[in-house]
Amino acid sequence: MTDIHHLRAGGTAVVLDCTGGHLPRVLHWGRDLGDLGPAALAELRRASEPPLVSGQADVAVPLSLLPEHSAGWLGTPGLAGHRDGRDFSTAFEVTSLGVEEVDGDPVVHSRVTVAAEDAVAGLRLGIVLELLHAGVLRMRADVTNAAPGTFDLAALDLALPVPSEAAEILDLTGRHLRERAQQRHAFTLGTHLRESRRARGHDASLVMAAGERGFGWRSGELRAVHVAWSGNTRTYAERTNLGTSLLAGGELLLPGEVRLAEGESYAGPWVYASHGSGLDEMSGRFHRFLRARPEHPRSPRPVLVNVWEAVYFDHDLDRLKALAERAAAVGVERYVLDDGWFASRRDDTRGLGDWYVSPDVWPHGLHPIVDHVHGLGMQFGLWFEPEMVNPDSELYRAHPEWIFSAGGRLPVPARHQQVLDLANPGAYAHVRDHMMAVLDEYAIDYIKWDYNRDLVEPGHQATGRAGVHEQTRAVYRLIDEIRAAHLHLEIESCAGGGGRADLGILARTDRVWTSDCIDPLERQQIEAGAGLLLPPELLGSHIASPVSHTTGRAHTLDMRAGTAFFSHLGIEWDLTSATPDELGRVRAWVAAHKAHRDLLHSGTVVHADRPDDSLWVHGTVAQDGGEAVFALVQLRTSVISPPGPVRLPGLDPASTYRVAPLVPGDGPGGHLGAPPTPWWDALVELPGSVLAAVGVQAPALKPEQLVLLHLTRL
Ligand code: DGJ
Repeated sequence: MTDIHHLRAGGTAVVLDCTGGHLPRVLHWGRDLGDLGPAALAELRRASEPPLVSGQADVAVPLSLLPEHSAGWLGTPGLAGHRDGRDFSTAFEVTSLGVEEVDGDPVVHSRVTVAAEDAVAGLRLGIVLELLHAGVLRMRADVTNAAPGTFDLAALDLALPVPSEAAEILDLTGRHLRERAQQRHAFTLGTHLRESRRARGHDASLVMAAGERGFGWRSGELRAVHVAWSGNTRTYAERTNLGTSLLAGGELLLPGEVRLAEGESYAGPWVYASHGSGLDEMSGRFHRFLRARPEHPRSPRPVLVNVWEAVYFDHDLDRLKALAERAAAVGVERYVLDDGWFASRRDDTRGLGDWYVSPDVWPHGLHPIVDHVHGLGMQFGLWFEPEMVNPDSELYRAHPEWIFSAGGRLPVPARHQQVLDLANPGAYAHVRDHMMAVLDEYAIDYIKWDYNRDLVEPGHQATGRAGVHEQTRAVYRLIDEIRAAHLHLEIESCAGGGGRADLGILARTDRVWTSDCIDPLERQQIEAGAGLLLPPELLGSHIASPVSHTTGRAHTLDMRAGTAFFSHLGIEWDLTSATPDELGRVRAWVAAHKAHRDLLHSGTVVHADRPDDSLWVHGTVAQDGGEAVFALVQLRTSVISPPGPVRLPGLDPASTYRVAPLVPGDGPGGHLGAPPTPWWDALVELPGSVLAAVGVQAPALKPEQLVLLHLTRL
């Protein structure tokens, strides 16, 4: 008897073969296949059966969600571990299987629950697979040691097959100040493995995609996975000579990190998977899922000012108040006081870990600035870096035993700091209580939760064992406790910029600080990479100073503001140094953002595929197709000028749109001066189908200049 289950939601179909008590095997994951009856599903199974070939096992080797060598699989096994050198290979048999449609859940459409056992290895396995309304698939596994002795777990990864047509891999890499760079490879035989071994990662591959050769934003079938975990992770694409290709992922466990005594369990993180024809469709599914979550921020994203690049550690009340007044005058709604307000923290060498207001810098506490900010009608936000400590701090001197270390030595310092072992109850309680005391005393609406060094040699001092797994859970617990005590609080996940932007941290935070680099030219690419997973309302994007602090490039206000316009807008610029003209134009940009943010933060993100990629075109189209905003960004010079027509994708083909320049703070000709294209002043009215297939002539822009277009349905 075949036992095949067909799940369908959000344009996605999953066909699971659960026949014969094996772990479920995915016969299809990807685009919807239509209505298939039991006979067709059985035929699909028959058609998927591989032939036997010489030099290989005498049995067919289909890929299960947790690949096992006992089934003949010769690639990376899903579970790795041993019990005192034995039980290194598993052969799980399914003991129960539940398949249900979930009623009334805003996120989950259907769920498959698998329980399995390997009586010889003494292990029990659970797998939960959920198909979400958005068409995203997610799955997680747990393992229990059901026998005497300790089971050392080295890996628990889940895998999904990808078709042999997948010829190219795309993943993300980068560094501090240049996160989320896209890199591509041929999908060759072997394993392309991306590991994050430092519990954060400016280079972390938020998504790994495999698709048809040359897949782009709008076309080419592709599939992608993401591991929703803020500790160490592994994500890989693997192709074997048995005709099987897969995408897989799970937590990266350090040696000895998870040792299960009899009766103990380990639960792995969710592994998310999406697909599409083109990257936009794939990431659109992730965005739809995220937006459906009950915890997704739903209020209009407050425009904020962050004082970091305006004052750095120089906390002067008068200056900070003047900055608040300027910010309020241009329409800012949230004011964030960054690093430097506490204890001896006058620079980045001291004070981290001592979470009390500095009596030297703030003799009257933070009340004067908090009250001033609230008096101006803005929310107040405050910076913390809860997991970290400077060796030059009261906390470190009192409790050197709370610091992560291995081999009796301290990890190499980074930004003059070390990491607190939050699995230590004393350390955890200390941080929680000090943070709570500040949150109880002041009316704080928002925390910028920073995390500025990699987690290396993370050993618990008492046991000498590795502790990233427990640290990650402790951080989640700490955030959850703080939020439960302060229900109105929003939290930004910052890790020296975008070092912690996974869906594990985003299940309990409201925004990521996308990068410490605010240079708009860099940001165009950084945000496109981050946007493969995250919708714009979760990406913090600020209007920078006229000269970027991290690159030294100078940009026009329109380039800076037009870049930040689409995401969760902020300002990170000493507005007290801005001219009246600049302030007027910032006010106009903020007002325009507010006028369009409902669209920008609920619409579908689209990108145009352009062979001449010096002109970068992206936009957001309202879910009902009623309006859209596009950006035409000249990233660098091109030998082609004028650039020719640009296509505007993703509009409703049957609707006619009026295309108008969106030029906040400028006259009708915009900051480009004379009408830059013949249609500019009179506007253009065309159907969405024509705008997608033919497009409109783009202005000839100078390098590092942009224009925005606003399209409204007639
Ligand atoms: C790194 C962050 O990304 C910056 O925005 C700022 O908060 C500094 N840390 C403060 O130390």
